[in-house]
Amino acid sequence: MPLESPPPRTWPADGGARVPFWIYTDPALYAREQARIFAGPSWCYVGLAAEVPAPGDFKRATLGEQPVVLVRDASGELNVLANRCAHRGVQFCQRDFGHAREFMCPYHQWTYDLRGALKAVPLRRGLRGQGGMPADFDLAEHGLRRLAVAERHGVVFASFDRAVEPLDEYIGAAMLPLFDRVFDGRALRVLGYMRQRIRSNWKLMFENIKDPYHASLLHVFLVTFGLFRADQPSAVTMDAHGRHAALISRRGAQQASDGTAEMKSFLADFALRDPRLLDPLREFPGDATVVMQTLWPNLIIQQQSNTLATRQLVTRGPQAFDLIWTFFGYADDDEAMTARRLRQANLMGPAGLVSVDDSEMMEFSQAGVAHAPDAAAVIELGGREVADTPHMITETALRGFYRYYRRVMEI
Ligand code: FES
Ligand SMILES: [Fe+2]
Repeated sequence: MPLESPPPRTWPADGGARVPFWIYTDPALYAREQARIFAGPSWCYVGLAAEVPAPGDFKRATLGEQPVVLVRDASGELNVLANRCAHRGVQFCQRDFGHAREFMCPYHQWTYDLRGALKAVPLRRGLRGQGGMPADFDLAEHGLRRLAVAERHGVVFASFDRAVEPLDEYIGAAMLPLFDRVFDGRALRVLGYMRQRIRSNWKLMFENIKDPYHASLLHVFLVTFGLFRADQPSAVTMDAHGRHAALISRRGAQQASDGTAEMKSFLADFALRDPRLLDPLREFPGDATVVMQTLWPNLIIQQQSNTLATRQLVTRGPQAFDLIWTFFGYADDDEAMTARRLRQANLMGPAGLVSVDDSEMMEFSQAGVAHAPDAAAVIELGGREVADTPHMITETALRGFYRYYRRVMEI
């Protein structure tokens, strides 16, 4: 098919178990996603409160493609402000992290307080009786755009649409206990960041994390060392809408079973030269040793053994996104636990022993789908329905994701 012809805009019949490839490249659809999803009534993850611990601390973030600043004001309250001057639109904050008493736009030096209120406009009254702003110019009408903000146990979300439901309802009764399992109210300590640009559509990232099928087949490291395998006790759960999901699993041993026969990635004779790389210590209640949670529309919460991270998706056009990993532990961790978390972080990130496989597959996926807008993916593993399962041999969470996606997008 010639590339310049418009892609078909329909979803194939049997839509619950098919995903048309045009949704990974179409610019008009991407623009609609920005408006309806990232600027719509969703709670987008912005960062951790521990990243801006003191009044005046700020951090830049991007929601969809919209640049914002997360800043703690003098009263200690968290604000999320559009990073766009009310005068002529300049992105006034150019530093990723910092400390400020106010924000001054570099272009004409309009100055805002940390709640986004416009405080000063140079030459407002003109000079020697000439020029200046009109007499009725009101500072109060020209503040920065403020987003709705919600925080739960140190995790900060924002929304462009103030009609969004309360955060706890948004996360939902099924997902809240899993969220609170890692974010249990203890103070967090940020351990470091990783960033990467992946040349694929952002939805392929959510598909990847909601897809337990590949985990046992693709990842040599996970499978061989028993960190996540289809023959281990596991479950897939979703919220009532299907927009959020969690993959839950329990670590097994490095031994063959009737399940490993079909897993070409299981290499019984592989061993770690330094076993400290995997030296997991049970720290959360319950049996699960891995919980990977996806929260619509831009957050993955990773708990694999003792490595904890948020992964924030930032869309960069239909065919690329940035993945920003924030690794964290708890303020009361001892040195040994911090070292363990950091060692296990080697599994993750752009060069991670596990995650590198996923980044490569997402780019291979984009390479495959980008030139076949009228073809479609088949997601029928475990049936065609959307339902929680007490096992991992299913693509149900992908079906749930697209069921909700289609409702929001009205396609
Ligand atoms: S654009 Fe910001 S002060 Fe003019
Ligand atoms: Fe994976």
